[in-house]
Amino acid sequence: MKFFVDTADINEIRDLAATGLLDGVTTNPSLVLKANRPFKEIIADICEVVDGPVSAEVASTDYEGMMREGRILAEIAENVTVKVPLTWDGLRACKTLSDEGTMVNVTLCFSAAQALLAAKAGATFISPFVGRLDDIGLDGMELIQEIRTIYDNFPELGTEILAASLRNGNHVKLAAMAGADVATIPPAVIKGLVKHPLTDKGLEQFVADWKQTGQTIE
Ligand code: E4P
Repeated sequence: MKFFVDTADINEIRDLAATGLLDGVTTNPSLVLKANRPFKEIIADICEVVDGPVSAEVASTDYEGMMREGRILAEIAENVTVKVPLTWDGLRACKTLSDEGTMVNVTLCFSAAQALLAAKAGATFISPFVGRLDDIGLDGMELIQEIRTIYDNFPELGTEILAASLRNGNHVKLAAMAGADVATIPPAVIKGLVKHPLTDKGLEQFVADWKQTGQTIE
């Protein structure tokens, strides 16, 4: 499973890229607002740090606007993935951009039928929003399972499932078990994945016992 980080904060991205575990980045307008820097500059900086796909979302909601902005964003770097919303105009833009050789991430997916449409439109990635479905009392992870079944029935579609709106470590585990190809995860949640109280306790004990041996490893 690939790990993308869901942030527009270049410092967080640098930190995580240094681990060697980062396969890509997703941003959205709300994350860009938080980062409070010029959008194209943010994307260019991220693409310098990360070789994998970097999602940059269009702001327009009509086909012509999405195409204009998508082409501008795709010019920034080879690994830019243009993010478009799951609407008819977005799907049309997805088809044209992917026919032009640009990677496309179709975002704001909340149903398996929407995911099927995005795959037919040539999406590189489909982004089902798990946490936002949980927020309204539904089971977001069920959507990942449904999309996995459909995409496995039609492997020629070739779209990758990018589990999005993951809010905790359990979401990451369940998305991996459900067969999502990619998880996009907030920095704090990625960092939290390594933590376990028994790991800390065990390490403390090993360090103390090693000290008592009086040895060094040379
Ligand atoms: C994905 O591409 C989105 O940026 C993100 O995962 C949305 O997460 P949220 O529902 O926590 O805002």
